[in-house]
Amino acid sequence: VTPTTTLISGHQIPVIGLGTWRSAKGVVRDAVAMAIRSGYRHIDCAAVYNNESEVGDALNTVLAEGVVRREDLWITSKLWNTEHARNRVLPALQHSMRSLQCDYLDLYLMHWPITGNKGPQVEPPIKETWQAMEDLVDRGLVRAIGVSNFSAKKLADVLGYARIKPSVCQVEIHPYFRNDALIEFCKGHRIHVTAYSPLGGAPDTSTIVGRELPSPLKDHTVNAIADKMQKSAAQVMLRWGLQRGTSILPKSSNAHRIKENLDVLGWSLSDADFGRLSDLKQTRMLDGVWWLQAEGPYRTPQDLWDE
Ligand code: A2P
Repeated sequence: VTPTTTLISGHQIPVIGLGTWRSAKGVVRDAVAMAIRSGYRHIDCAAVYNNESEVGDALNTVLAEGVVRREDLWITSKLWNTEHARNRVLPALQHSMRSLQCDYLDLYLMHWPITGNKGPQVEPPIKETWQAMEDLVDRGLVRAIGVSNFSAKKLADVLGYARIKPSVCQVEIHPYFRNDALIEFCKGHRIHVTAYSPLGGAPDTSTIVGRELPSPLKDHTVNAIADKMQKSAAQVMLRWGLQRGTSILPKSSNAHRIKENLDVLGWSLSDADFGRLSDLKQTRMLDGVWWLQAEGPYRTPQDLWDE
């Protein structure tokens, strides 16, 4: 059973979760069931992944088999961009809950600080959406709430008005994109950081962004450390993520790799190797440029990421 870390909400999030983005329909059901049977206790989902009902089937199966109890699982979903309006947030959550066959979720995240509407400001404003998410906690439908793909600046705005603070910020993190400043900011506010694409996401993400991305799985330094430790490149990167205090969401739909990605406990990287992994050339893979539009609110990558 994977270790957990305590969120400001008081809940315990398992530090290793199975990613389900780009897990094909017809495949994700087996992947989720297999992962839980292998010891995963945390499944990361989202409405936009378009596979939540298959994840729900898998959850239903393993719960019926008695492999785990619901309270031992951590299920995350995410509010999609088009559902940010005050009156759409609850129905969006209910839709995910129905698909996932859950009567509560452990964590609900605002997927992006984006609504898709054009204009100088984010409309509806993030504040309105956040307040509607706070209501979900009040109603007992979700244990904790948080954000994804937010910059420190956008997170600071939320902290300015949040009645219920974001427990989690989920962002891209791997040795090719450390996201140091954001992690530092979150640490200062006791916001837990979850690393998505902890293996760099390639080759799946390459297909999505339409350009060839460098894969840290093929990196010379990563592989040299892996060979020395008699671990795989993936395990070395995941271990690095855990040693930084982030939780990690490796996505796989392959039985062997799902198990391999859980085998990152009970050993550690030396300070020297950790340092070498923290010194590689940086590239943001999921750069979000497809969200930029001339009319705003985000015209440039700088507007989106505040870097
Ligand atoms: P697959 O689903 O065939 O295993 P990320 O979690 O960073 O988004 O990376 C996901 C990508 O990495 C997928 O293409 C996934 O393919 C692959 N992957 C997952 N686990 C491993 C592993 N242990 N070794 C190599 N590739 C992996």
